[in-house]
Amino acid sequence: MSTTGLERSPVNALDFAWVRAQFPSLKTQVNGQPAAFLDGPAGTQVPTQVMHAIQNYLTSANANTGGSFLTSHRTDEMIANSRAAMADFFHCDKDEVVFGQNMTTITFSVSRAIGRELHAGDEILLTTLDHDANFSPWKALEEKGVVIRQVDIREEDCTLNLEDLKSKLNEKTRLVAVGYASNAVGSINSVAEITRLAHAAGAMVYIDAVHYAPHGLIDVKELDCDFLVCSPYKFFGPHMGVLYGKRRHLQGFRPYKVRPCTEQIPDRWETGTQVHELIAGIGAAVEYIGEVGRRTDPSVATRREALAAAYRSTVPYERRLITRLMEGLQAIPGTHVYGITDPKRFEERCSTLSLRIGNHHPTAVAAYLGERGILTWDGNYYALNLTERLGVESQGGLLRIGLVHYNTLEEVERLLTALREFVHV
Ligand SMILES: Cc1ncc(COP(=O)(O)O)c(C=O)c1O
Repeated sequence: MSTTGLERSPVNALDFAWVRAQFPSLKTQVNGQPAAFLDGPAGTQVPTQVMHAIQNYLTSANANTGGSFLTSHRTDEMIANSRAAMADFFHCDKDEVVFGQNMTTITFSVSRAIGRELHAGDEILLTTLDHDANFSPWKALEEKGVVIRQVDIREEDCTLNLEDLKSKLNEKTRLVAVGYASNAVGSINSVAEITRLAHAAGAMVYIDAVHYAPHGLIDVKELDCDFLVCSPYKFFGPHMGVLYGKRRHLQGFRPYKVRPCTEQIPDRWETGTQVHELIAGIGAAVEYIGEVGRRTDPSVATRREALAAAYRSTVPYERRLITRLMEGLQAIPGTHVYGITDPKRFEERCSTLSLRIGNHHPTAVAAYLGERGILTWDGNYYALNLTERLGVESQGGLLRIGLVHYNTLEEVERLLTALREFVHV
């Protein structure tokens, strides 16, 4: 069975001119140079469709939910539509989609709810590769006597050590929290296999798909995971978080909530008033990705098929970008790329990488690039366990370059030229 949905070849290549035209911010200039947004892992740019949806909501539907008047009805309808869009995005039912402030807040809320049901001695498996937002919310349960175990990486390629994971799973494991893809080094974890292993041991799986979402089709049905969470601002939408939870878990676990709030799912998990205008933007972000797919394969019948078609065109495109980037970086003296560098293994990674150049502080490199309109990130990007494990945390961490489908080969070449100038090649 496939977990990628990428088997059919695209009918057309990515409609790149159309893609670029959807993102007004790509025209930003920095010191007279066009901005090259290579900071997608910290948040992608937003297409006009999303901006319009937010504005339209505020213009014509701005109200709270559940009222007996027009704009409230419109708000309810809009939320239902965005929920249906996210259900297509995850491949689940609408009542299994929960909106929230961001991935971190959602994860603290779920960890507290699950923590209510755990006992001293129960175990949770976390990883060294994960963003801290899929670590600290679970680690906090040590207060209750929950035992935290941590799966290590294989240092040579910054992938998760599955043997270590297997050795730490046991009958006391209640939950495995794992990332779908690393926001630091781009490694994609075998989350389907990890879910199978966890379930065989009687444990639930909580997948952080924040970094994976712009780079690959998600299918929670096929993965059979218990929870999966992502953040629309990493896939061309607004700053929020969205959770998938299996219906029986959303019904069974007890979120901390106020009394008048319904016990119905998914609403019982949505604390207080949501940012409705941004929920409107989430629906539009999914529609945008769908439109990329429809332009690739006009024969698609459903939004889900359109989403699959979109990734069939963006994944190979992003792979071309990362392949050229890797090749160019390897020719720059003193550059060390962390993670998978062999192009034959690029199916195991997405188009995000981290590097160091000699002893140069990553902030100095990022500032040099930033002056030239090349926007990258430096530090630990909250993948703190990883930067500590790699021994770079005390030296300023890493420099991260993140490529998404609106980036260009020309931007990659500009970056390589600037880095060569930086090291005086
Ligand atoms: C992999 C990963 N997980 C979790 C988060 C946290 O997401 P949020 O900002 O929505 O809380 C991030 C943010 O950078 C991330 O990259």
